[in-house]
Amino acid sequence: MPSTVEHLRAKFDHAIVAAFGQEMAGTDPMLVPTSNPKFGDYQCNVAMSLTKALKSNPRAIATQIIEQLEIGDLCEPPEIAGPGFINLRLKPEYLEAQLNTILTDERLGIPTVDNPQKVIVDFSSPNIAKEMHVGHLRSTIIGDSIARVLEFLDNDVLRLNHVGDWGTQFGMLITYLREVYPEALTTADALDIGDLVAFYRKAKVRFDEDNEFKEASRQEVVKLQAGAEDSRRAWAILCEQSRREFQVIYDLLDIQLEERGESFYNSFLSEVVKDLEKTGLLEENQGAKCVFLDGFQNKEGEALPLIVQKSDGGYNYATTDLAALRYRINIDKADRMIYVTDSGQANHFTQVWQVARKAGWIPDDVDVVHVPFGLVLGEDGKKLKTRSGETVRLRDLLDEAINRARKDLEMRLKEEERTESKEFIENVAQIVGMSAVKYADLSQNRTSNYVFSFDKMLSLQGNTAPYLLYAYVRIQGIRRKGEIDFKQVGTEAKMQLQEDAELTLAKHLLQLNEVIATVATELLPNRLCQYLFELSQKFNQFYDQCPVLKAEDAQRISRLGLCDLTARTLKLGLSLLGISVLERM
Ligand code: ARG
Repeated sequence: MPSTVEHLRAKFDHAIVAAFGQEMAGTDPMLVPTSNPKFGDYQCNVAMSLTKALKSNPRAIATQIIEQLEIGDLCEPPEIAGPGFINLRLKPEYLEAQLNTILTDERLGIPTVDNPQKVIVDFSSPNIAKEMHVGHLRSTIIGDSIARVLEFLDNDVLRLNHVGDWGTQFGMLITYLREVYPEALTTADALDIGDLVAFYRKAKVRFDEDNEFKEASRQEVVKLQAGAEDSRRAWAILCEQSRREFQVIYDLLDIQLEERGESFYNSFLSEVVKDLEKTGLLEENQGAKCVFLDGFQNKEGEALPLIVQKSDGGYNYATTDLAALRYRINIDKADRMIYVTDSGQANHFTQVWQVARKAGWIPDDVDVVHVPFGLVLGEDGKKLKTRSGETVRLRDLLDEAINRARKDLEMRLKEEERTESKEFIENVAQIVGMSAVKYADLSQNRTSNYVFSFDKMLSLQGNTAPYLLYAYVRIQGIRRKGEIDFKQVGTEAKMQLQEDAELTLAKHLLQLNEVIATVATELLPNRLCQYLFELSQKFNQFYDQCPVLKAEDAQRISRLGLCDLTARTLKLGLSLLGISVLERM
């Protein structure tokens, strides 16, 4: 089902051509939702932009467009306002017909894309043997939501976890592993080495204090890269340990990811350098092989290089990303590649892509996008830390969200004199806790920093997950109370919109289409959050003003139709944010 704006756009295109000739075909009618319902629902601003081309005044142009505009089935007669805005108000009959169609549509009228793309979303991507921190949490939550939206539109999405599982730190880690668990390298048993971050710290102490250890670590890197079996095995043990720890977080958050770490591209790195050599882009600079960049300069104003092979022969983060890019284009056949990392890596990606473009590795029809995000701050406005000043462990953070959600719930149950089973309480606490964390992140424009506050994110008031979940629960309450079968409502309802609150809710319901399309292009999940928040508000207003179960026949079933559509829109919208709904809470 085309969205209302798409309908209107087509009508305007037609009218503009009819009024001013074929050469005006394709003119953007500049349709925007009105800022105030007083002016109707949409506003067309095109008349102002055509004054030069048509050598006429905007009001006259607007009049000529309106004369040719055939929108009687969608809108009330249009009005010209101010210098030449065309104001449009949707007709209740049009809205009713649209609602009738989506009532029986599983996808709520959201079409799949005409040309599905192969999209790679590179997200989460923590580093082996290091802490998975709040930055990785943001990447995980935002990346997952973007992937869900694109999947829903029927794109072929590959969710890649580009874990940092290669590099010189492994020399030190393996050397330490040999020292403390010598048996691990010779037996085939799985090994649990416990907290890897503590392990990393201890290894680092050894590395810093003992020169022999340092030298052994250096040789270990060489051995590992040459593929020595026992080194590979030690490396695999370390990766496996990290993987288990990451998986706890992914399970809590319900995240699906395919691991394809940096090590995967190891065998392609020398080719990257060789191929760059062939293009003539490669230069030697103090023993390192590099490509000089446009637009990046040092303090002295000299061009900065991107190093792809260090003077000791080693490769780096950028080389791996070049190899990954080529693999994703040539083997995975990606049409669009999305990288979700903190804004701090913006330069890294710009540089890598500049080199890849110069080398001719990115075809014109392939899109590469960085999806940057800001920092997570504590309530003091500084980088998030524990009370004792340490970095916050993700596991602890998520557990605390669940514990606080449980406490809130238990208090509410007491106030309401309700008793619920232990399973009920655990399930609600888990879903509310995880939803709150996800939603707090997603509802912010990702490019800004956001303040992490348990109190705010768990509140039943405001733009929070519990507020939205509660709107859904409210509708399920109506269903139970009236013993309603919403499936049946869907097939029987003939929508009729009379009250303002009904019209307002109906118009909002029909905007889902446009919102999802925007999220898919702009990759800003906060747009969807804002939409769902407003939907909940508009539903609550409707529910306060319009009796549902007590209404008579046709009106009752029409209002139940609005309830059903609201619930399904909330459920779908939240699922695209990675949030599941509750029947009761
Ligand atoms: N491991 C990196 C980090 O923790 C993120 C990797 C992002 N993806 C990429 N293809 N570079 O900062």
